[in-house]
Amino acid sequence: GYRNPYFAGQYSGARKAGLIRGAYHFARPDRSSGAEQAAYFVRHGGGWRGDGWTLPPALDIEYNPYDSRKCYGLSKKRMVGWIRSFSDETRRRTGRRPVIYTTTQWWKLCTGNSRAFSKDHPLWIARHGTARPGALPGGWRYWTFWQYRVKGALPGDQDLFNGTLDRLRIFARTR
Ligand SMILES: *[C@@H]1O[C@H](CO)[C@@H](O)[C@H](O)[C@H]1NC(C)=O
Repeated sequence: GYRNPYFAGQYSGARKAGLIRGAYHFARPDRSSGAEQAAYFVRHGGGWRGDGWTLPPALDIEYNPYDSRKCYGLSKKRMVGWIRSFSDETRRRTGRRPVIYTTTQWWKLCTGNSRAFSKDHPLWIARHGTARPGALPGGWRYWTFWQYRVKGALPGDQDLFNGTLDRLRIFARTR
């Protein structure tokens, strides 16, 4: 149900400033199905177009910040099913599978280190304050984005893309 009140300005402002930009959905697997949340996300800015300026939709799935159930009360099997449902619906609506933002620890704890997504979902790994992201989860052999710090020279979280600007353009454009 939450929408970033600054989203429209940030999204179009980034584009006007010549930045390739995208949107993310913060997963609440305890609230409703993956498909329902994907539909809500796509309706409210999480869409994708191959215009070269739009990153694929991203699913932010991580430690539950709201209560003590780290995995939102879902079994590993149901968590994998939830993510699958979100991914399938995102692809149905946008033509693209989501990027998955997570941490290695959370993925191990809450999906049993599922290898079901590494083949067709780009990984955006969060690992702060280290020289490298370290061991990757779920059979991913490389990361596409790395969030390496929460503060730095740029506003907000600090992230790297694994590649050149040309590669980023191709990544944005290509299904
Ligand atoms: C960056 O991506 C390439 C594939 O495009 C991969 O071979 C390489 O290992 C990646 N680098 C890192 C640090 O993940």
